[in-house]
Amino acid sequence: MTLEEKVGQLVQYSAGQPTGPGTGRTDYDSMIRKGEVGALFNITTAREVNVYQRIAVEQSRLRIPLLFGLDVIHGFRTEFPIPLGLASSWDPQLVERAARVAAREASASGIRWTFSPVVDIARDARWGRMAEGSGEDPYLGSAMASAYVRGYQGTRLDAADSIAACPKHFVGYGAAEGGRDYNSVELSEHTLRQFYLPPFHAAVDAGAATLMGAFNSLNAVPASANPFTLRQILRTEWGFQGVVDSDWTSVAELVAHGIANDGAAAARKAFLGGVDMDMASSLYHDHLAQLVRSGEVPEARVDEAVRRVLRVKFALGLFEHPYSDEVKEAAAMLRPESLTLARTAAEQSFVLLKNSASPGGAPILPLSTETRTIALIGPLADDQNNMLGSWAARGRAEDVVTLRAALTQKLGVDGLRYAKGTEIIGGSDDQIADAVRTAEQADVVILALGEDAPAMTGEAASRAHLGLPGRQQQLLEKIVATGKPVVLLLFSGRPLTMPWAFEHVPAVVAAWFPGVQAGPALLRALFGEVNPSGKLVVSWPRAVGQEPLYYNALNTGRPAGNIDLTRPPKNGDEKFVSRYIDVPNSPQFPFGYGLSYSNYQYGQPRLSKEQLSAGALNDELCAGGRASNAAVEVSADVTNTGTRAGEETVQLYVRLQGTSVALPVRALSGFQRVTLTPGETKKVTFTVGPDAFAFWNDQNKFAVEPARVTIWVSPDSSSGSEATLQIVK
Ligand code: GLC
Repeated sequence: MTLEEKVGQLVQYSAGQPTGPGTGRTDYDSMIRKGEVGALFNITTAREVNVYQRIAVEQSRLRIPLLFGLDVIHGFRTEFPIPLGLASSWDPQLVERAARVAAREASASGIRWTFSPVVDIARDARWGRMAEGSGEDPYLGSAMASAYVRGYQGTRLDAADSIAACPKHFVGYGAAEGGRDYNSVELSEHTLRQFYLPPFHAAVDAGAATLMGAFNSLNAVPASANPFTLRQILRTEWGFQGVVDSDWTSVAELVAHGIANDGAAAARKAFLGGVDMDMASSLYHDHLAQLVRSGEVPEARVDEAVRRVLRVKFALGLFEHPYSDEVKEAAAMLRPESLTLARTAAEQSFVLLKNSASPGGAPILPLSTETRTIALIGPLADDQNNMLGSWAARGRAEDVVTLRAALTQKLGVDGLRYAKGTEIIGGSDDQIADAVRTAEQADVVILALGEDAPAMTGEAASRAHLGLPGRQQQLLEKIVATGKPVVLLLFSGRPLTMPWAFEHVPAVVAAWFPGVQAGPALLRALFGEVNPSGKLVVSWPRAVGQEPLYYNALNTGRPAGNIDLTRPPKNGDEKFVSRYIDVPNSPQFPFGYGLSYSNYQYGQPRLSKEQLSAGALNDELCAGGRASNAAVEVSADVTNTGTRAGEETVQLYVRLQGTSVALPVRALSGFQRVTLTPGETKKVTFTVGPDAFAFWNDQNKFAVEPARVTIWVSPDSSSGSEATLQIVK
């Protein structure tokens, strides 16, 4: 390979609908013919892929196939719920199956590389990309990251329906100051290692073939030119052998960051900092060969990066099978079993936040099949495009079954009254008046409110206010004022601060953006054909001022403890603690929270041991043990005291005290989905080993120390009874 041909393998461009700033080079046919392109992305059909692939394989000197990438983050054509919704299922197997469908569909169109999963820990709901990931917890985030990688890559990467995963955005992107996308990030090495790195480590351990860098600076060093994270941690500590891809023009953005004064310096610092492939900035094309010739970049480093790219192409089988079968493409899309899975995923994604009794009656949900007339009101009730969420790949609005369509089919035109009520942003008094009249004719009102997915969630969609946009709050209050029973469905890419709604509306469901089967899934959940089981993966704030808000926080030296924070402090004891004077510290709803149509009772946790040995646990840790004889069995009885069968995600939390660094008041260390029939009790057992007790200590080592341990087996991160044990030397 000539030096230019080597550099060509380290360059990729968006050759389809751009999803970011442009770069000017668009003569792809001649660039490919000259061996100047290693990958293209944003192309989405087998025909287009084959056109470019033929040029690479039949007209270039080395005939190296191109790699085609795309953001397939919650489905390719069969759109599943947004990742925040998928994670709310707490079902990694479901996520793996959804990723498998996405891989099968994307690969049928010649896409063999997805820029997914998003594994950024997200603690701040102001950040729009919270929608794209799996929430605030590293344990759950790690389980989801691994599931996506397994689903995309399958058991063999060279299988025709496998695609290379690309966990992103490495690293710390979700900690953007102020929740403002692309903003600076400051994280101590302890926090980085304890909370933000584990999901990436899990994705790498699951065999991710590639990984994507991030736009943000991390402790003043841009993540896309950061030898500490990209080389020391990723390569030396974790042994990652895959390709590091830049995010869009993040190589060029090193100039804006202020660590490079021209393109050549930016290319040099990104490449030597650990970025193998330049997405879209064209600076590796423009400068890398010259940087090698001038001796500023060793050619051996370029060879290493090229080998990584070629290994991925070989592993995908692209040299043997570079082309896509255009005839088979359509048959792969929207298969019945894929749609059924999309509906199941949506059903499991919904989080029932509130379901109180209508005045003097039973809880409003599930709706009785005897319900004669339903009023469906709101801008998200019949909006096919928004149900797809952000980053909808080749999802099409016409594929979506909305709640209005599903209800009309079930109830008939006479049984359903519909009014849009307002716009997501904007709307008129007449619309609201019409909606009120519609509500007054019905037995029950379903309100579908929330955000505009493409405009308000995902990338470059940070919000400083987290309430209902536009005039939706006004509509909500007018509808509640009719006195009709109201069920509020929230369609959003983040938690929304809506204290009035949670006080005045009897039933509220977080529906996120549920994908192509939104309507059928919501119908089955609303009428009780399926029992909601979703749980929050992010803490739900009462007020935006609480952000960033997360359950696994440190206790501080002045915890508010059991002080009543619903009112201003009465005395010094209530004042001089870590608190606001105008809002309680607690979330509206905690991480791990979610109701169902059943009720579950948790027994006291029982431990198989009262004492563990730090030495034995560390020995196991060094041996790579997950759970061993140094472990402890934790069990608790969980009973369904309701009248419906249901699935409950039982959670295990651990707290360590007396350690060399302060650790969270709770840390998720296990979860299990259990199915319980009415009246049934199951003994749920967790084997808790070294991973649950090890942490990044004051010597920057991941180890177990003597500690007082508190353990909960509970329905969420803020309730449940506890058991304690000691870890001794
Ligand atoms: C974007 C996003 C990244 C995506 C890439 C390609 O700017 O940050 O998540 O994979 O561009 O579309």
